Amino acid sequence: MIKITTTKKADDEVPDRYVRLILTKNKPSYHCLVETADGKLEFHIGKGKEKVMTARRFITLIRSIIQLAKQQEIKSLAMSLTDFSFKHLPYDQVWIISTIAENISLAAYDFTRYKTDQSRQTTSLNEVLICGDLNARARAGFKRGLTVAEYVNLARNIANTSASEMTPGALGQAAIKATRGTNAKVTILGEATIKKLKMGALYAVGQGSRNETKLIIIEYYGASRPVAKKSNRTKANSRQRPLVLVGKGITYDSGGLNVKPPRGMYDMHLDMSGGSSVIAAVACAAKLKLKKNIIGLVPAAENAVSDKAMRAGDILTSLSGKTIEVLHTDAEGRLVLADALTYADKFNPRAILDVATLTGASLVALGQHASAIMTTNEKLRKQLETWGEESGDYVWPLPLWDEYKEYMKSTRADLANIASNFSKFGGTISGGIFLSHFAPNCPWAHIDIAPRMDAISSDKLAKGSTGEPVRLLVKFLAEY
Ligand code: BES
Ligand code: MN
Ligand code: ZN
Repeated sequence: MIKITTTKKADDEVPDRYVRLILTKNKPSYHCLVETADGKLEFHIGKGKEKVMTARRFITLIRSIIQLAKQQEIKSLAMSLTDFSFKHLPYDQVWIISTIAENISLAAYDFTRYKTDQSRQTTSLNEVLICGDLNARARAGFKRGLTVAEYVNLARNIANTSASEMTPGALGQAAIKATRGTNAKVTILGEATIKKLKMGALYAVGQGSRNETKLIIIEYYGASRPVAKKSNRTKANSRQRPLVLVGKGITYDSGGLNVKPPRGMYDMHLDMSGGSSVIAAVACAAKLKLKKNIIGLVPAAENAVSDKAMRAGDILTSLSGKTIEVLHTDAEGRLVLADALTYADKFNPRAILDVATLTGASLVALGQHASAIMTTNEKLRKQLETWGEESGDYVWPLPLWDEYKEYMKSTRADLANIASNFSKFGGTISGGIFLSHFAPNCPWAHIDIAPRMDAISSDKLAKGSTGEPVRLLVKFLAEY
């Protein structure tokens, strides 16, 4: 575990074991380790032109520094806060210090659970010291950045764990562990209850797996407790109405009987990234003691191939009562989310976000630099875009227009789970449109995080789960 701390000392007054970071201005980007006359080590990195620094580049700069320091096997790094002041950044000092703390921690993360070589188990970078005189607000921002990053990394650990270990039941246990020591309460419903409650869509997705389907419910009441009865849906108690996060928890997506080809299957242990993000975000909110009521729902199932598996052609009765014709067993995420969205209604939510690695089509649309957001609530869309930029979990909108609705009609049931003409066009929107049939009567947005499931090299993060969009979710929970 890396230690990230601050000091009032100047960077040339810190203990000798520290390598001092020198950010060089207005030079092309380069890096090198230099030994000074008095035998101290300096680590030089080009920070680019002052005028073109943006929030996005700032985040990348921090991560690059840490990634390079790891490559250079630097153990202790000291940096001066004044080096990181850029006139043109659109945010204040608190954003700068919390973003520095957060991204040092995110870039230092490595997933070593399955590495047997002990020497590779710990990152070579053990400590980072930030030199600067912080006021109380900045100190709080620094601490918050570290806390948020801790939960992003927790989401990455959960997601990166193989599906043979991270079963729906284990995901539930991970939620219990993540919220330990906070006021959040976890309830895990098993298959018998899921069936009894008539969550036919969630049940069907997991019916082919030996690993029991679960509905993981995390409740955190940081404001006073709400009255959940429908008759009480008044403005008076609106502050108590909870924010609900729903996360797709498919612990492995083989595709089901419409089995995936090899290239599409190998990283499908990450198909519970929505679920792990929701668990981490609610746990983080509880840790931060946010004065909000918050519910996290993770429908967790394994989409397996077996003689008991859901078939293409099966018709399911969802919790809402609507029937769904399964045209494709690989469109399973929307099925588990449908029942979870209906279930969310019982909490009388103020707003709902659902988060899911829902479609490969979202990567076709956006590449791997942003998650797709879909909502008919203009205000919520703008807020999510703003918080996305601020947090580093970038999102970009796709429409949910009525014109798209007719494709999801089914001949035999109320709805089909893919476009009934089997069209590949607009696959991400089809997913959103399907979910909109189960969306509650409150502001709601669907976030397709498939583009951000796996880290890419420009992220300057360890390979595997990015832990997105935990930062965005925490921001939403804090600000909405
Ligand atoms: N989990 C996948 C989507 C996915 C693909 C996430 C690649 C991350 C990377 C989802 O369950 C799925 O299989 N979707 C299908 C939908 C199709 C059958 C309409 C897809 O994208 O092919
Ligand atoms: Mn699938
Ligand atoms: Zn899936």
